[in-house]
Amino acid sequence: MKTKIIGIAIALAVAFGAVANAADMKGLRSSAANEPDAAPPIHKVIEGVKLERAYRQQPPLVPHNTDKYEIDVKVNQCLRCHEWPYSDQEKAPKISDLHYIDGNGMRRDNVNGNRYFCKQCHVPQNDAKPLVENHFQPASAR
Ligand code: HEC
Ligand code: HEC
Repeated sequence: MKTKIIGIAIALAVAFGAVANAADMKGLRSSAANEPDAAPPIHKVIEGVKLERAYRQQPPLVPHNTDKYEIDVKVNQCLRCHEWPYSDQEKAPKISDLHYIDGNGMRRDNVNGNRYFCKQCHVPQNDAKPLVENHFQPASAR
């Protein structure tokens, strides 16, 4: 019985020791391990500006926010503005005919599956600084 009590006492001491240590511990993040990090800043999407292409084949960047546009198997809200005839009504650029070419090189009437998930290729930009320095130069500047 006595040894059992001592055993529990040691176990509790070890457990409390571990909690105390966790409080002082610093991880790779600068804050202590048991404190939440500050939320990262939310950057605004650049809208209404023509974003230049860096090379000839580049899918054009999206000059508007896309957060609220659903794209899944049943719905593609991008097409509600960029597919003809909506493109004329919404005054949005019509997606080019290359988006309609199937795996056999045939031009179809519906957007081909390999171009259905628009955000694979077309992304908006925000006003954030690059996370790491880079020396990328657009092909036009070479
Ligand atoms: C409410 C209508 C609307 C919806 C929905 C919409 N767009 Fe647009 N989009 C526009 C308009 C209008 C423009 C022309 C530029 C402008 O006015 O911002 C444009 C421009 C673009 C461009 C630039 C084309 C170029 O030649 O420079 C791309 C790329 C684009 N949109 C992609 C998308 C994608 C991807 C989605 C879905 C996530 C989407 N758009 C949803 C209206 C829309
Ligand atoms: C596999 C990559 C890819 C996907 C997916 C894709 N696009 Fe594109 N898109 C491109 C490329 C590359 C161009 C420029 C060359 C061209 O016209 O095909 C382009 C051009 C465009 C343009 C400009 C057309 C013009 O004549 O100025 C619009 C608008 C556009 N895409 C909208 C969309 C929408 C909406 C979707 C989703 C339904 C989509 N794209 C899916 C690669 C893609």
